[in-house]
Amino acid sequence: MPRDARILGIESSCDETAAAVVGNGRTILSSVVASQIDVHRKYGGVVPELASREHLRRIVPVVREALDQSGLTLADVDAIAVTRGPGLIGSLLVGVTFGKALAQAKAKPLIAVNHLEGHVRAVVVEALGAGQAPELPAVCLIVSGGHTVLYSVEQDEPGAIEAAPFRYARIGQTRDDAAGEAYDKVAKMLALGYPGGPVIDKLAAQGDPSAVHFGEPHMKGNPYDFSFSGIKTAVLYHLRAHPELELESRTRQAALEQGKRRAAELLPLCGPHTLGLLASFQRAVVTNLVAKTLAAAQQWAARSVLVSGGVAANRELRETFAAEAKRRGLAVFFPSLALSTDNAAMIAAAAYPRLLAGELTGDDLNAEAVLPLA
Ligand code: KG4
Ligand code: ZN
Repeated sequence: MPRDARILGIESSCDETAAAVVGNGRTILSSVVASQIDVHRKYGGVVPELASREHLRRIVPVVREALDQSGLTLADVDAIAVTRGPGLIGSLLVGVTFGKALAQAKAKPLIAVNHLEGHVRAVVVEALGAGQAPELPAVCLIVSGGHTVLYSVEQDEPGAIEAAPFRYARIGQTRDDAAGEAYDKVAKMLALGYPGGPVIDKLAAQGDPSAVHFGEPHMKGNPYDFSFSGIKTAVLYHLRAHPELELESRTRQAALEQGKRRAAELLPLCGPHTLGLLASFQRAVVTNLVAKTLAAAQQWAARSVLVSGGVAANRELRETFAAEAKRRGLAVFFPSLALSTDNAAMIAAAAYPRLLAGELTGDDLNAEAVLPLA
């Protein structure tokens, strides 16, 4: 296989239909993401059946647009990469089936990619774009609405980071909710709309992070595992103990129903107590994520820390990681906001070393709802 390869990536594991073209695992030629947030918002979460239908509706125009923006045609593309899992099975099947059909029709190699490896490669491809190659070994925190997991990342073979396969070991993972899920549930309890992360991120900046004390989760066993269901329940109990907060939530609910869902519109409807609760919640989640990741980085003698997934867009998480990693002399890498959440550039980038290694998939490719990376 020639090393020069432009790969068309397709991603449909959850609620974003995405396609992208990436050159040689390092140059993003196009990246198109069709978000379904507006479809799922009124249900306060992703409805799998609706997600599959939306993928089916969007996949052809999204792939076409990704090709158009890259200035290439399907004939120019050297391979097709598709997310095999983990994710919602009905959603994954749309991308897998479409990718298989395209690869067959155009006689192109097909590469199956693990969505989680995509999140790791999202950080690498953008670091390279900024002229920096993260040094390995690294630890990678993937933190989103569906995942909170820590991996060690190593490269066994010499070679450029974008071309060499990575070896992963799982260091820890959440035992219950993903961090993004906790954000979304807390936002629901407080009538802050869906998804909760971006709004809580902005409102928390206006509150006192020491207003409410949340204890550390008591966990036996692996010290690098996470747990976020306790803090979610603590927020619920706090609300029950303070009926005035629930009253305030009702005014926000009415505002949401009128389509007012931007943080700037909700801020005047949040008193200092609510803002303090949000700031304290965010501080507790961020402190926990940063502390465990940096402890793992030390234990695994990592030279860099990679942080990816929807929650990696969080401002306080970025600032805290940057400050704490600097104190320890560690380099920390985040993707841009666009590549933090689900996208297909990360899938095309992850496929490149696999294409070079000849790891192609055949007609028997199936989607896998559960697919551990390690
Ligand atoms: O990676 P993603 O788009 O989808 C998956 O879950 O795979 O992540 C979406 C999650 C949601 O739970 C959302 O609330 C959270 O990421 N999120 C944030 C922020 N932006 C998105 N959480 C905290 N702060 C943010 N700025
Ligand atoms: Zn994801």
